[in-house]
Amino acid sequence: MASTTRQFARVALRTTTRRTAFVAAPRQILRQGGRRYNSSEAGKSGGSSSLIWIAGAAAAGGAGYYFFTQGGSSPSIKEFKPTQKDYQEVYNVIAGRLEENDEYDDGSYGPVLLRLAWHASGTYDKETGTGGSNGATMRFAPESEHAANAGLKAARDFLEPVKQKFPWISYSDLWILGGVCAIQEMLGPEIPYRPGRTDGDLSACTPDGRLPDAAQGPKHIRDIFYRMGFNDQEIVALCGAHALGRCHKNRSGFDGPWTFSPTVLTNDFYRLLLDEKWQWRKWDGPAQYEDKKTKSLMMLPTDMALVQDKEFRKWVELYAKDNDAFFKDFSAAVVKLFELGVPFAQDAKRFTLKSPNA
Ligand code: HEM
Repeated sequence: MASTTRQFARVALRTTTRRTAFVAAPRQILRQGGRRYNSSEAGKSGGSSSLIWIAGAAAAGGAGYYFFTQGGSSPSIKEFKPTQKDYQEVYNVIAGRLEENDEYDDGSYGPVLLRLAWHASGTYDKETGTGGSNGATMRFAPESEHAANAGLKAARDFLEPVKQKFPWISYSDLWILGGVCAIQEMLGPEIPYRPGRTDGDLSACTPDGRLPDAAQGPKHIRDIFYRMGFNDQEIVALCGAHALGRCHKNRSGFDGPWTFSPTVLTNDFYRLLLDEKWQWRKWDGPAQYEDKKTKSLMMLPTDMALVQDKEFRKWVELYAKDNDAFFKDFSAAVVKLFELGVPFAQDAKRFTLKSPNA
């Protein structure tokens, strides 16, 4: 029943994407199906209120978390090993906060959470093994001040209360879990999650210039993504994330959303790229495209490069006509992206977390 509702929401939204009006956040449609998140459930989850958490700074790798219990006459300190259930509780709280904080942007923090997870991961360099989602070094300047990361404080601040509630989770695992949750809550595919990241210090910050520059073309896109270890198909699949969210003048300088349903993941980014006529926008901002018909959508030069380059274009054409193929390839590429640079323990397993709204 619940998955039927989600399916219905997706179909309903997909059929509206040719309209010129924006589609509201998915929760409003989902709510009609009775899938409202019950915030009292979140209160049951953390369990940290009755415990005193102690960071295991001296533990091997600095990753350990311990808790101090006062049950009965003999207080004790125990090592805390989070299980899938514990990560599910964190997921539920993030999903609840997404639902509650619907005043932001187009009605959801989901897009900016995904952008945080991507920018934390996309600094990876396969030659040196530096960067990637391990470390959460964007907590520190200068990385937090890199132009590419403008505006991501909103996402980091959104997740801070979650970190306070679950102090045992590293920032780096939390930011990636935020990305996983955002994709799934915006009706995207399942993104299997594997925890095991530890937080780094200032010295692990990556140099500026590792993330893509939207003003450039295919060669630059390949230079950046090949450095992370991706191929052309994976690059195009990942860029389908631009079905979500928008550009902000006060962040990147660019302006506007890519699709009419910026809080629901669909293959509309590819469909619009191919079906609409795009022209340069005449304005005093950086060079970007607008759709000729409504002038309300935008494309970056790097987005347009995906249809101008023959090799990229064949994947755009596939994903434009096959949403299932897009979802399958997007999920696989995102899992790879989110795990770049993480030295997982041998027994670390992926698992799928479920929406509390499903
Ligand atoms: C060539 C590659 C890419 C370039 C040049 C690029 C560039 C940009 C720019 C300029 C923005 C606007 C930021 C703002 O003003 O708020 C943006 C937003 C966004 N990007 Fe990308 N991006 C790329 C790839 C990706 C990938 C691989 C993902 C995820 C897998 C992604 C996810 C997003 C999302 C979700 C937003 C919306 C954020 C919001 O609404 O606040 N992007 N991107």
